[in-house]
Amino acid sequence: MEVKDSFGRRIDYLRVSVTDRCNLRCIYCMPESGIPQINHSSILRLEEIQQLIELIHEAVNLRKIRITGGEPLVRRGLTSLIKGISPLAETVLTTNGILLPEQAGDLADAGLSRVNISIDSLKNDVIRKVTRRDVTLEMVEKAIRAAKKNNLNPVKVNCVVLEGVNLNELADMVLWAEKMGVTIRFIEHMPMTDSLCGYVPREVILQKIPAEFIKTEGTADMFVTPSGIKFGIIAPVAGGMCVNCTRLRLTAEGELLPCLAGGDSLNLRDKLRSGSSSTEMINAIQNLVAKKPHHGACGGVSMWRIGG
Ligand code: 5AD
Ligand code: SF4
Repeated sequence: MEVKDSFGRRIDYLRVSVTDRCNLRCIYCMPESGIPQINHSSILRLEEIQQLIELIHEAVNLRKIRITGGEPLVRRGLTSLIKGISPLAETVLTTNGILLPEQAGDLADAGLSRVNISIDSLKNDVIRKVTRRDVTLEMVEKAIRAAKKNNLNPVKVNCVVLEGVNLNELADMVLWAEKMGVTIRFIEHMPMTDSLCGYVPREVILQKIPAEFIKTEGTADMFVTPSGIKFGIIAPVAGGMCVNCTRLRLTAEGELLPCLAGGDSLNLRDKLRSGSSSTEMINAIQNLVAKKPHHGACGGVSMWRIGG
């Protein structure tokens, strides 16, 4: 069934965090150490994730499912989950790319449509500083090539813009994206818990892109270069994105959140494990969607817990 919230938004996009773990420690996302170990039994089993996605689909009729983390590719058995859910709605994935070359073929065969890959700089020393791990540009390029080879198109890359880190590289990154044949999106840094860096607003990001790179403006935040490559700016802080938000989020612990910024949520794991009926759970999901807030204010949550 199609469900609209109380502001008339059709809620049809589910982001599912399949793990809170990650093989990197990006400075805007995770603390360096001291990450509380979540009790294994509180994390959903893959079959439970599938069951919950099916129920949410029944409740709201999903158009798109995005698999996130932490880093989703560190979760073993992910391919079978994707196989199970991809017939329900378009299934896409956000990854740091490190494990993608070895998994891209199986993921594509399982029904994954496309991927978003994170990269925040073209310089290995800066990449290392941001990820706090030994990641290189070559590793990310390899992931992009693997995605393209397996037809996970269009490949999009996400770059979180950080004051004093990569602000002077944005023009180079547009040219690099052009060379790689990918769409790059510059993302305003959201000041979440665990995030250590400075926020750069959309207007300043745009000023860093030379005017000759912009042939047309597609939508407010999508631009096309003279050679036809698209780049975008995602402005969760300055951009008033909330108004058009159609998302729901399911955490790795089975909490369904209608808004990143907090507010009401629903613990579906406990309902599932205590044997609640499908009808009861579907009703609860629809009630939660109806209460999705008009907009939120970020800050109270950790990105790696809810999957961005
Ligand atoms: N602000 C903006 N984007 C973030 N991401 C993670 N943390 C933040 C943050 N604080 C996004 C990045 C990353 C994806 C997994 O989540 O785009 O690529
Ligand atoms: Fe891991 Fe992604 Fe967070 Fe970086 S941003 S620490 S890759 S989950």
